Amino acid sequence: MKAQDIWAAGDYSAIAPHLVSAAEEVVRRAAPGPGEDVLDVACGTGNAAIRAAQTGARVTGLDLTPELLATARAQAPDLTWVEGDAQDLPFADASFDAVLSVFGCMFAPDHQRTAREILRVLRPEGRVVIASWTPEGESARLLRLVGRHLPPAPGDPPVLWGDEEHVRTLFPDLRCERAFVHFRFETADDAAEFYVENFGPVVMTGGAANADVHAFFAEVGAEYDAEYLILQATGGAAGRT
Ligand SMILES: C[S@@+](CC[C@H](N)C(=O)[O-])C[C@H]1O[C@@H](n2cnc3c(N)ncnc32)[C@H](O)[C@@H]1O
Repeated sequence: MKAQDIWAAGDYSAIAPHLVSAAEEVVRRAAPGPGEDVLDVACGTGNAAIRAAQTGARVTGLDLTPELLATARAQAPDLTWVEGDAQDLPFADASFDAVLSVFGCMFAPDHQRTAREILRVLRPEGRVVIASWTPEGESARLLRLVGRHLPPAPGDPPVLWGDEEHVRTLFPDLRCERAFVHFRFETADDAAEFYVENFGPVVMTGGAANADVHAFFAEVGAEYDAEYLILQATGGAAGRT
């Protein structure tokens, strides 16, 4: 099962608005400015990229899934949108002042390689800001539950990007903080139906995960906070080989 097919399933443009607070937080911490070059890795439909561009920065969004990039491009035709893999970034060394990712690069299978690529394309004084679901948080719990109905994903478990000890092995100079995305639906049943209809990984189970998703929201409720880790790192020569 290809990652692109999973993220193209359902309707990701319905999911993205729920994650705007995290995109805003990541952009605020990266603090891009006019004339700076910014990369949003695994940008999806462009939540963080579009907000970064509002600061006057020159922004490139990269993602594996062409369907999501098409939505991003339709929303913001002036940004640069590139189809590609976070593990093999199609950019020269030291191309960006800031590299961002919001619940994005965590899904690339090889964490070491992805982190090396992010550091390689970053300028020496550049900033990295990455948001990833923590293993203990509600979004990670939902991903694990749905994953039980899909073929095993290759590579490292995505939510390890939300584990402070693990990400310290990926970046030499790092600061971590925890934050929450607040989700709110009318009822727990609405929440479950929303994920069953729109969330690619659930859709890809062909209905097999639906009962578990309903049981999950019956327990969690219509309103909940999902924990994520924000890591902030700086550039330097560490990523270059
Ligand atoms: C949960 S979505 C997050 C999208 C966006 N950053 C946001 O905040 O809405 C995960 C994204 O990771 C992308 N993705 C997964 N594996 C990838 C890889 N190896 N390289 C680039 N993008 C990848 C998917 O296509 C999808 O757009």
